Amino acid sequence: MEPGSIAERFRDRSILITGSTGFLAKMLVENILRIQPDVSKLYLLVRAPDAAAAKERLLTEVVGKGLFDDLREQQHGASFHSFIKEKVCPLPGDITHQNFVLGNSEILRLSQDVDIIVNGAATTNFMERYIKCVLAIRVFFRPFKIYLWRYFV
Ligand SMILES: NC(=O)c1ccc[n+]([C@@H]2O[C@H](COP(=O)([O-])OP(=O)(O)OC[C@H]3O[C@@H](n4cnc5c(N)ncnc54)[C@H](OP(=O)(O)O)[C@@H]3O)[C@@H](O)[C@H]2O)c1
Repeated sequence: MEPGSIAERFRDRSILITGSTGFLAKMLVENILRIQPDVSKLYLLVRAPDAAAAKERLLTEVVGKGLFDDLREQQHGASFHSFIKEKVCPLPGDITHQNFVLGNSEILRLSQDVDIIVNGAATTNFMERYIKCVLAIRVFFRPFKIYLWRYFV
C-alpha cells in the first residue's frame, strides 16, 4: 500500500486513539496530523481525573513534545495551537473501566462520530503486573492463612 493512499484513508475521518501519552500512539498522532491535516478529528483518551487535566496532559505530554516540532515550526507556525484545538479532542478516561469512565453523552457522540479506533493503551511495566499479582495472591489467601494459624495454634 502506498503511503499516499494510507494518508488518504484518514481524510475526513474521526479516529479514537488510546495511549497517546505513550511512545507508539504519540508517534501515530503526530504522523496523522502531519501527513493528513484534513483528518476530521482525533479523540485522544488520556488517563486523567477530569477534562482540564486531560487537556493539560495533551499539551505537555503529547503535542508539547519535540516530536511535534516539525508540525509546530514548519507546517503551522503561529496557527499550531488553533490547528490542534480544531483537530484534537482530549477525553479523560481509563480503558480498564466501563465505557472508559466516559459519560453517556460522550459515548453517544463517539459512537456517532468515530470511524476508526486505535488502541495503544497498555501496561508495559512488567513489575506493575508482578506487584498486582502478588497483592492479589496475598489478599486471596489471607483468610486461609488465618484459618491455618487457628488450626495449628
Ligand atoms: N514501543 C514499541 O516499540 C512497541 C513495539 C511493538 C508493540 N508495542 C505495543 O504497543 C503498545 C503501546 O506501547 P508503548 O511503547 O507506546 O507503551 P507506553 O509508552 O508504555 O504507553 C502506554 C500508554 O498506555 C496508556 N495506558 C496504560 N494504561 C491505561 C489505562 N488503563 N487507560 C488508559 N490508558 C492507559 C498510558 O497512559 P499513562 O501515560 O497514563 O500511563 C500510555 O499512554 C503496547 O501494547 C506494546 O506492547 C510497542
